[in-house]
Amino acid sequence: MIGVFDSGHGGLTVLHALTERLPREAFIYLGDHGNAPYGRRSESEIYDLTLAAVERLFAEGCLLVLLACNTASAIALRRLQQNWLPEVAPERRVLGVFVPMVEVLAGVSWRDGTSVPGKVSPDGMVAVFATQRTIHSGAYPFEVGLRAPRMRVVSQACPQLVAAIEAGEPEAVLRELVSGYVAEMLRQTEGRVPEAAVLGCTHYPLVAQLFAEALPGGVQLLDQPTIVADSLAEYLSRHDRFAAAPGDSGRRRFLTTGDPERVSAFASRFFGAPTSFEAA
Ligand code: DGL
Repeated sequence: MIGVFDSGHGGLTVLHALTERLPREAFIYLGDHGNAPYGRRSESEIYDLTLAAVERLFAEGCLLVLLACNTASAIALRRLQQNWLPEVAPERRVLGVFVPMVEVLAGVSWRDGTSVPGKVSPDGMVAVFATQRTIHSGAYPFEVGLRAPRMRVVSQACPQLVAAIEAGEPEAVLRELVSGYVAEMLRQTEGRVPEAAVLGCTHYPLVAQLFAEALPGGVQLLDQPTIVADSLAEYLSRHDRFAAAPGDSGRRRFLTTGDPERVSAFASRFFGAPTSFEAA
């Protein structure tokens, strides 16, 4: 089975796109609800929690784990891929949602630096909305800058948005928050309108419509779950050893470090279908 990890509910928006795109693959989702949110945690805490989650999914037999959390990807992915994995499990793989997004922004493959279809002009401007921790990591501008040095990445933290979405705040409250973050971003650009906007947190697809309303006309909103699903499909077409065994085809399991009953009740909003979580 392919492991999909998030700090809590947000990764279910990615899992939803994965199951639509790859219905025959087998997925096991792990939400670290017991320790969420990650957005305001320290880098070392996020690294340790992400490592523990990957180990847990490896123990379930996953050969491939996707970090379906931008915060975990921004902080832990490079270190896990470069230092930890080669030592402990060189035949397994850890991928992150942040990588396909960098690829379509920069128009350059992460793997070998060759050109891939990009969604923004090489000297264009893109706004990234994400958690405080993802923004402070600088991972988006750093990775995009390595591959597309003329592109301007405007980083906008949205510190209260995950908690407000999790709390099920009314739409009017969410709208006000989103408008405030968009206005802050436009102050940074001194009114210049970006070509595209990245919702760089797995919770934000739930308020994508509010971002679309708040952003000036003509800004392309990049849909991370779809981009990640397309990228994983392409990856599996090159690495069929990670594809589901015939007996597992279409299997789904949901694990949580939180309270399975509470999590299951809330999770369907994110997944778009009923889910039944087990204790991790
Ligand atoms: N899922 C996380 C992300 O994509 C946000 C939630 C959190 O702060 O734990 O950045």
